[in-house]
Amino acid sequence: MRVIIFLIFFISASFGDLDFNSKTRNFSVELFYHTLQGSDRDVAISPYTVWSLLISLAYETTGRTWEQFSKVFLLTEDRSKIVEEFRKQRTSVVVNRAMNVSLTNFLFYDEQLNVHSDGIRRLENDFNFIATRLNFEAPQRAADSAFEFMRSHHEVASNILRLKEEDFLNATMVMSNCLSFIAAWSKPFNVSNSSRDYYRDGNARGSEMMMYVKAQLQFWKSESLHASFTQLPLGDDGRYCMLLVRPDSGHDVGRVLERLREVSLLDILNKMQEVAVSLGLGEVEVKLPRLAINSRLILNTPLSNMGLSDVFDQNFADFNNFAEDKIYVGDIAQTVSVYIREYGTIVSTTTPASPAFIPLEGRTPIKQVPVREPFIFFIMEKSTATVLFGGSYSKINVY
Ligand SMILES: *[C@@H]1O[C@H](CO)[C@@H](O)[C@H](O)[C@H]1NC(C)=O
Ligand SMILES: *[C@@H]1O[C@H](CO)[C@@H](O)[C@H](O)[C@H]1NC(C)=O
Ligand SMILES: *[C@@H]1O[C@H](CO)[C@@H](O)[C@H](O)[C@H]1NC(C)=O
Ligand SMILES: *[C@@H]1O[C@H](CO)[C@@H](O)[C@H](O)[C@H]1NC(C)=O
Ligand SMILES: *[C@@H]1O[C@H](CO)[C@@H](O)[C@H](O)[C@H]1NC(C)=O
Repeated sequence: MRVIIFLIFFISASFGDLDFNSKTRNFSVELFYHTLQGSDRDVAISPYTVWSLLISLAYETTGRTWEQFSKVFLLTEDRSKIVEEFRKQRTSVVVNRAMNVSLTNFLFYDEQLNVHSDGIRRLENDFNFIATRLNFEAPQRAADSAFEFMRSHHEVASNILRLKEEDFLNATMVMSNCLSFIAAWSKPFNVSNSSRDYYRDGNARGSEMMMYVKAQLQFWKSESLHASFTQLPLGDDGRYCMLLVRPDSGHDVGRVLERLREVSLLDILNKMQEVAVSLGLGEVEVKLPRLAINSRLILNTPLSNMGLSDVFDQNFADFNNFAEDKIYVGDIAQTVSVYIREYGTIVSTTTPASPAFIPLEGRTPIKQVPVREPFIFFIMEKSTATVLFGGSYSKINVY
């Protein structure tokens, strides 16, 4: 029986055990790398939400499925210790009264599914799932009930996360989580400094709106990574930032990301802090396009390439701690929309799981051409260096 996992996000406008946080960071960069590798276009993902959802499933598995989880997620047998660290990390990453950030998890399971009742309880108590049983035999009704259920528990989530009839077809369980993040830049761009940048390729023509700001920012240029790093602080409590990574000319985002796998993002943040303290904050000029990214990705292949394969296999998936029935994970689909504007806000009010969500424009581009200044961005919580969102920007459509 199929379990469907949807991870859906929108952003509008971004201590615990250090060892645990470093596992999340490692996973984040690896997942981003493997997702970009398998894609011929730019990608946007939310590694933290994939991490948190899969961690909640890890301890429900046994045998080889568990061995793969423990290897990919660097987990130990001591479940209660991991849960404790997970909760601490969750608190530092997504609990912030001054900031518009929220993470909600829902779990819908079929009336016919034979689950161990303590399995559901573990997901509710330890991983904050809001769970309910539905009748999956009537998929349209199940989708409607799921919507009502979400609306009664979390208005914002129900606006952006709309499950459909086919999500309940052939499935016995639907898990979804929804992370929204809305923040203003601490040093906003001035709209009057924004200007249009044109691209030509034969007869085809495209453009992007470039925003510009000159401000005192943390900046570091690394010779060995062949990239420069700029921190754009978000909100006003200094906890979140967008880390911009620009490859040196002649180096592409894929190669820079490959080098980032060898270092820790925390080390990069620390290095930038060190530079800021010893040399002071310099005036940095930042050019950033206005962005509207709507990305929908199936993450099964990148996760399989990282070593997590049995969980997707009808014959090999082993959820013995959770259910008497045999279940496996059908798809892990993630929808991310990112809006970057002068004031910083990134807003989305779309209906994620719907295909109508994908095309941004009615026109079909003739081709994609490389942008002049490609970059990678990470929206991060700084104390843990957790990656809430990551994306690449290297090509634009020309028409
Ligand atoms: C957070 O965002 C929601 C949805 O856009 C909005 O209604 C709410 O007022 C915002 N809250 C804060 C504290 O900014
Ligand atoms: C559901 O299963 C049936 C029979 O196996 C198949 O024909 C159909 O395509 C499946 N639908 C979905 C949405 O997976
Ligand atoms: C933005 O630029 C305009 C025009 O130059 C100027 O009048 C305004 O004060 C600037 N706004 C900010 C917030 O700096
Ligand atoms: C940005 O705007 C400021 C204020 O409007 C102006 O003084 C400055 O020349 C502008 N810079 C650029 C690069 O357009
Ligand atoms: C991340 O984990 C992989 C696999 O365990 C390891 O090979 C790699 O060195 C780690 N990277 C960092 C930066 O710790």
